Amino acid sequence: MPPEASAIANNVTQPSFDSIQTLVAADMAAVDGEIQRQLNSPVALINQLGAYIINSGGKRLRPMITVLAASACGYKGTKHQSLAAIIEFIHTATLLHDDVVDESDLRRGKETANNVWGNAASVLVGDFLYSRAFQMMVTLNDMRVMEVLANTTNTIAEGEVLQLLNCGDPDTTEDRYMEVICNKTAKLFEAGTRLGAILTNQPTEREAQLAEYGLQLGMAFQLVDDALDYSSSAEELGKNVGDDLAEGKPTLPLIYAMQEGTPEQRELIRHAIEHSDRGNLNSVLQAVESTGALAYTAHRAEQAVAKAKASLAELPDTLERQALLDLADLSVSRRS
Ligand code: IPE
Ligand code: IPE
Ligand code: MG
Ligand code: MG
Repeated sequence: MPPEASAIANNVTQPSFDSIQTLVAADMAAVDGEIQRQLNSPVALINQLGAYIINSGGKRLRPMITVLAASACGYKGTKHQSLAAIIEFIHTATLLHDDVVDESDLRRGKETANNVWGNAASVLVGDFLYSRAFQMMVTLNDMRVMEVLANTTNTIAEGEVLQLLNCGDPDTTEDRYMEVICNKTAKLFEAGTRLGAILTNQPTEREAQLAEYGLQLGMAFQLVDDALDYSSSAEELGKNVGDDLAEGKPTLPLIYAMQEGTPEQRELIRHAIEHSDRGNLNSVLQAVESTGALAYTAHRAEQAVAKAKASLAELPDTLERQALLDLADLSVSRRS
């Protein structure tokens, strides 16, 4: 059943992504302008590859929560737009590197940059985007902003390396998996919303509430991403499904299916993880479904979303706060 139909069947009013986009349209247009300006380089390949990935239709979710968090705190200037652009640059750099590491050939419904220009070009332009992001943040001349972004970028790298170590290891625990997704994904969401609070000099408690919202939303977002890798289609997702299995990545759907499955199912999945083997994808999918592993992963995502929403309880009731609440719901019902 498509999401709209299931929402109607459950008599639930689904918030719409369009109305959130309308609310942030002016800010996001400015963010986009800043992104395009900052992509500029005298080196043609940087312009080409950078424009290819940046303009390939990402959801711009992280910059969106950054501007929403700042506006929810009453911010009226333009620095939140620069911060949002910086966050999207860091996100894009991680994607360029991630697709090389994951050997992915499809992103946002298009060939990945590594497939078009090769691994070396992708890694190096990723480095350009990271370092450009740091040049941009220096111009903001705010030590706390730099501290948050420097720590976050470092933590993302740690998360990616930790994930590399887990790859091929079927004994990876749920806790270790949670640590990886916290570092590689949730921390950047957290940085976005925390920076919104920092920009407006919020008291420590309010900053912590917004940071917690971002962190939990990021956890939910990656949990859903890992479930979609076993339940969506390349057409819907714009990425190849089954990529995680092909990399021997022990994500929660597999960890749970091994825990709850029959000895045969456990052995099947262990073997697939150890040998990065997508050959038995259909049997693995069947095990993932019959053990309720996708439902469990969705449940963990819903728990994280509930925490994200609860952390906004004391924020003034504004359109921006409502948009953040709606985005949290949308991040679990999303199909792409
Ligand atoms: C992809 O993030 C990487 C993950 C953390 C799962 P998005 O799904 O936000 O990617 P784009 O920017 O919209 O393509
Ligand atoms: C997220 O992990 C990658 C980053 C946080 C850089 P995935 O490997 O699951 O992301 P996708 O599925 O390739 O977008
Ligand atoms: Mg990947
Ligand atoms: Mg994924």
